[in-house]
Amino acid sequence: MAVWYRAADFLLSRLDAETAHGLTIRALKGGLVPRDQRPDPASLSVTVWGRTLSNPIGLAAGFDKNAEVPDAMLGLGFGLVEIGSVTPKPQEGNPRPRLFRLGEDRGVINRMGFNGAGLNAALARLSARPRQGFVGVNVGANKDSINRKADYVTCAAALAPHADYLVCNVSSPNTPGLRNLQGRLQLADLLKQVQDAIAVNPVPLLVKIAPDATDDDLDDVVAVCRDLRVNGIIVGNTTVERPASLQSARRTETGGLSGAPLMTLSTDVLRKTARRVERQFPLIGTGGVGSGADAYAKIRAGATLVQLYSMLVYEGPSLVRRIKDELSELLVRDRFTSVAEAVGTDL
Ligand SMILES: Cc1cc2nc3c(=O)[nH]c(=O)nc-3n(C[C@H](O)[C@H](O)[C@H](O)COP(=O)(O)O)c2cc1C
Repeated sequence: MAVWYRAADFLLSRLDAETAHGLTIRALKGGLVPRDQRPDPASLSVTVWGRTLSNPIGLAAGFDKNAEVPDAMLGLGFGLVEIGSVTPKPQEGNPRPRLFRLGEDRGVINRMGFNGAGLNAALARLSARPRQGFVGVNVGANKDSINRKADYVTCAAALAPHADYLVCNVSSPNTPGLRNLQGRLQLADLLKQVQDAIAVNPVPLLVKIAPDATDDDLDDVVAVCRDLRVNGIIVGNTTVERPASLQSARRTETGGLSGAPLMTLSTDVLRKTARRVERQFPLIGTGGVGSGADAYAKIRAGATLVQLYSMLVYEGPSLVRRIKDELSELLVRDRFTSVAEAVGTDL
């Protein structure tokens, strides 16, 4: 790792977490972050929704809420990058501080509350970039909206022409009431409206769910997604649970917990989701991924693609290359010639 990067990392880790994130985005915009120059091993290539990606490791939503750096993040070696959540109107989000490192636990708690520059800003950036790589767009609703479903429809319709896939995020814990949209009738109504709105620009449509979903919740979500032929589910968002093992003083902060303490919970819910989906559509496994072994566990639990965010805070950009190297070694060890062969093998 370059000396300058280690120095920058040292300084960033001492700043307030949100300030550090803002500086990271600026560094990425300025081209100051190294690119992954090596080609990905052939075994990591995955075909999903008719597209072939060179690897299954993705950047989760929330890192690049305003579509400022999708290409820089693809350059770090991610096989896919998800921007958002995008809401129709710009909004401030919750008061700061609202993002906390739980260093001892290698976790993060956030209660950002969909802070973002809004639909028009994201649309302008996405429509100005050359179409390259695999960039998903995650959409949400404004806090003060009187018709939240209409917010998803507005964002989805406008952004579909610039997205390789769309995600309805109905699982942020930081917008009061949003998770109610995961209920059977509400979700079916929302997804039908979004499907109708993007019918002229059809792109794969996914739903992002909470890792706090109960078995009954999963029955409902999967039934709706299967009925409506939704194209995938992301499992999942941050959790409102606080595992008893947490050590950090910040563990009592309100918000969603992510990073290492989320790995087991989110992988268990992924596995339960996969059992219900029966390979009708692909799943994305998100939550706590910080190594090739973590990514492999998600794949074996039923994920075709894997995403991460929080562990980048602790490991820096070289994490992406390391995960890919470790994952390809694990595939070789277990005599899989491709990611596809390993998907769901623990089910
Ligand atoms: C600071 C922060 C902001 C986030 N914002 C969003 C968001 O806007 N939309 C969304 O769908 N998920 C958001 N997430 C959730 C992540 O996409 C991911 O699902 C979750 O953090 C678990 O993955 P991780 O443990 O690798 O971070 C956010 C997470 C963090 C830490």
